[in-house]
Amino acid sequence: MQRFFLVPLRPFATGLANLGLCSKTRSIHSTKTLLSHENPLGIPKRNPNPAPTIPRRGAPPKKSRIKGVKQIVVVASGKGGVGKSTIAANLALSLLQNPQTNSNLQRSPKIGLLDLDIFGPSVPKLMGLENAGDPRLSDENKLIPLQNHGIKTMSIGYLLPPNPANDSPVVWRGMMVMKAVQQLLFDVDWTSQNQDLDVLVIDMPPGTGDVQLSLGQLVDVDGAVIVSTPQDVALIDARKGVGMFNKVSIPMIGLLLNMSHFTCTSCTTPHELFGSSKNFEKAANELGLEVLGKLPLVTSVSDGGDSGRPIMVQSNKEGEEVRQTMKSVSEKVWDWLSSREQSNLGTRG
Ligand SMILES: Nc1ncnc2c1ncn2[C@@H]1O[C@H](COP(=O)(O)OP(=O)(O)OP(=O)(O)O)[C@@H](O)[C@H]1O
Ligand SMILES: [Mg+2]
Repeated sequence: MQRFFLVPLRPFATGLANLGLCSKTRSIHSTKTLLSHENPLGIPKRNPNPAPTIPRRGAPPKKSRIKGVKQIVVVASGKGGVGKSTIAANLALSLLQNPQTNSNLQRSPKIGLLDLDIFGPSVPKLMGLENAGDPRLSDENKLIPLQNHGIKTMSIGYLLPPNPANDSPVVWRGMMVMKAVQQLLFDVDWTSQNQDLDVLVIDMPPGTGDVQLSLGQLVDVDGAVIVSTPQDVALIDARKGVGMFNKVSIPMIGLLLNMSHFTCTSCTTPHELFGSSKNFEKAANELGLEVLGKLPLVTSVSDGGDSGRPIMVQSNKEGEEVRQTMKSVSEKVWDWLSSREQSNLGTRG
């Protein structure tokens, strides 16, 4: 195993710095990798590893499974800031903790969390891995996930130059983004001791753009959980998210309402701060989708995210309703996955 010091943005940052768009660069330590549009993450070439391809017009690229991963769930929404990343991290943890999952497999499940948000990666912070250092490379030149709370994780956030001010954005055009997504999908070694991941949870960026399209065209995803808050403005985008996944044949597991209510500690009355959950139920009904759960607005969910201790690894009374809801959501997701027939598509990676 070799240490992987990577500066994916270097040539682009240099180029962009020349354009006055980006001033931050970082020196390469050990890899003599040619960074290019074909290899935005700067992962050393390996054989046999098909060069990443760009989805083209005409015949769509063939979907495949990800090598080393048995099943894949995406957490998405057309809308930003509705809690996708927070829920993805807590879903991964609740799948890990769920007694049903453990008893079905007769061992503790192997769960991974992949951050596909290139412009706003949150997984390193949410999982307490912000200062975990650079990922290493396997003998096959694949990125080795960083692990915390029992979950293996990968994010472009691990590959960005250290920047205490956190103010250095990734400034890439669409093609670079798609290539980076493909590398995150197919150039990560999820196996350990020859055992595959049971479930990979993917945290999607907001919107219905290149990343969603690349994922839907390239990977055989087992199911999607769409997150929304109750406001009409969020529901409109959630519907778009559902429409997008339908277009690329990603099956829908259901909808999850986040920040549905806030229970005031002094009066113990739940208040629907962002609108009635009836709107959400109506929308789910119209879309023919199940409401998997309603998560309250709880301070320790957001504090836990900021401190790298997701609510599922906390034990405070305030978070109990969220933990119970996530437990029930993960049971529904696990039931869904268990009932899926294994596809005979090939694997890639
Ligand atoms: N149920 C909740 N209770 C309290 N705070 C929450 C809850 N869900 C999410 N948050 C907070 O809301 C903010 C946005 O959450 P998060 O980053 O997970 O959203 P996102 O949909 O992934 O955003 P983006 O679209 O930017 O990726 C975070 O500060 C998070 O801690
Ligand atoms: Mg996010």
